[in-house]
Amino acid sequence: MSGARVSSHPVVKQKLTRLRAQDTGPAEFRALVSDLALLVGVEATADVRVAPITVETPLGPCEGSAVDANISLVPVLRAGLGMTEALSRLLPDADIRHLGYARNEETLQPEVYYAPTPPDPATDLALVLDPMLATGGSACEAIRTVKNWGIGEIRFLGILGAPEGVDTLTSAHPDVVVHLCGLDERLNEKGYILPGLGDAGDRQFAT
Ligand code: PRP
Ligand code: URA
Repeated sequence: MSGARVSSHPVVKQKLTRLRAQDTGPAEFRALVSDLALLVGVEATADVRVAPITVETPLGPCEGSAVDANISLVPVLRAGLGMTEALSRLLPDADIRHLGYARNEETLQPEVYYAPTPPDPATDLALVLDPMLATGGSACEAIRTVKNWGIGEIRFLGILGAPEGVDTLTSAHPDVVVHLCGLDERLNEKGYILPGLGDAGDRQFAT
């Protein structure tokens, strides 16, 4: 059994299918990444803490609720950028702390090019955003960095994963819940997810 929580929502499945198709161009691809990020974001934050508040409707007072947690979004550049706007619409008070990694295509290890230490990580919950969980190297490095910031609760939100990446991530960080839109069969010899969708960064940014 996989250690990831994989969405079974029919709309997620339909959008993921369209995302994979090689005739899906960059504009549609970016829109689908954003839609899927919102959908997995809703599932991943279903239990987030809320506090009761009262609002005045035109007809009188109404008991409601407001999210009562300091949340940080941690997109992994570049591909995680495509998930950020959707998550910040869902959680408008969340701050955004980017990390920059490029996977070395020979060694498959992530090479860090942007990882500032935040001055005040007064964060209850960090959501690490990266559409692809392949070997798991980038996700492990991102989560190690966020833990070094002193943030206690971390969740990983991705669009597509490979079993190898899920195993690596959940073994290294068993406390981190992994949320995915889909889980594929395996990696190929170049570390790409099969059947996958290709390179999520290149397809979003037409590079
Ligand atoms: C992709 C993807 C992940 C990483 C996943 O990024 O967005 O960050 O590869 O692979 P892994 O699980 O084997 O580490 P890439 O390094 O290609 O950079 P990009 O987002 O700039 O395209
Ligand atoms: N990164 C991607 O963008 N796609 C893969 O299949 C693996 C890593």
